[in-house]
Amino acid sequence: MDGLKGKVVLIAGAATGLGADSAHRLAREGARVVVGDIDAEGAERTAASIRATGGEATAAQFDISDDDSVRALVASTVDGYGGLDAVHINAGDMSAVTKDSDVVSIDLDVWDRTVAVNLRGHMLVTRHTVPLLLERGGGAIVYTSSIASFTGDPQRPAYSATKAGINALARHVASRWGREGIRANAVTPGLILTDEIREGAPPDLLAGMLARTRSTRLGEAADVSSMVAYLMSDDGSWINGQVVNVDGGTVLR
Ligand SMILES: NC(=O)c1ccc[n+]([C@@H]2O[C@H](COP(=O)([O-])OP(=O)(O)OC[C@H]3O[C@@H](n4cnc5c(N)ncnc54)[C@H](O)[C@@H]3O)[C@@H](O)[C@H]2O)c1
Repeated sequence: MDGLKGKVVLIAGAATGLGADSAHRLAREGARVVVGDIDAEGAERTAASIRATGGEATAAQFDISDDDSVRALVASTVDGYGGLDAVHINAGDMSAVTKDSDVVSIDLDVWDRTVAVNLRGHMLVTRHTVPLLLERGGGAIVYTSSIASFTGDPQRPAYSATKAGINALARHVASRWGREGIRANAVTPGLILTDEIREGAPPDLLAGMLARTRSTRLGEAADVSSMVAYLMSDDGSWINGQVVNVDGGTVLR
């Protein structure tokens, strides 16, 4: 893809799963990648495996729910690379999803934690990185949302509401700074077979998800990372403020 070679890309949430795969994909496209995550060992594992395959990556531990921590991550990126060209905001607190029952019974701590990581955290990274992208005349932000942001679901109200909030955040950023060269888009994956889901999800859940797709298979991390790279690259340079489904046709909209 055009325009990623040599670019400094910060990925917020890339120790495991989709973020790690996107970090690899962006590095293969020639980007210099900062792997930020609350899981320090996982972030270093991702960065080390990128370096082992000839890519350029550094790891940094941070907590996306903490304003000072986000500020420090962004500052260390600029210290290390002299600026910032693009951001992928991907972190999600997946440990809270199983406790995300319904709005009557949900533990308020689960609601608050989900909002703090999945939505407020994405806002914090946006807030600290937009001025740096503007310094370089613009840049791209790609958020990870979910098809849960627009499908009704009897469970997971916190997860769904935060993902819908991310879609609104992407549209806001595109509206506010698009004329100054910033593109902000969100990817909405359906169920993706990350290692954790492949190993841990009950077979009937996977069969049910496959039955809901208009596709012959379930999603792989590469399906998402290729869209992340495309939206970040110059090939996607006229795409702004969009919420892009990568779900094998699960939700047709
Ligand atoms: N896997 C799927 O089927 C699927 C589908 C739709 C959307 N998503 C979204 O994709 C993203 C990645 O999910 P995944 O399935 O790869 O799960 P994952 O748990 O492997 O990835 C989430 C990453 O976020 C990090 N993280 C969590 N809390 C953090 C914090 N406070 N600060 C910094 N980093 C933090 C985790 O350590 C992890 O590296 C999430 O936003 C999720 O909602 C996943």
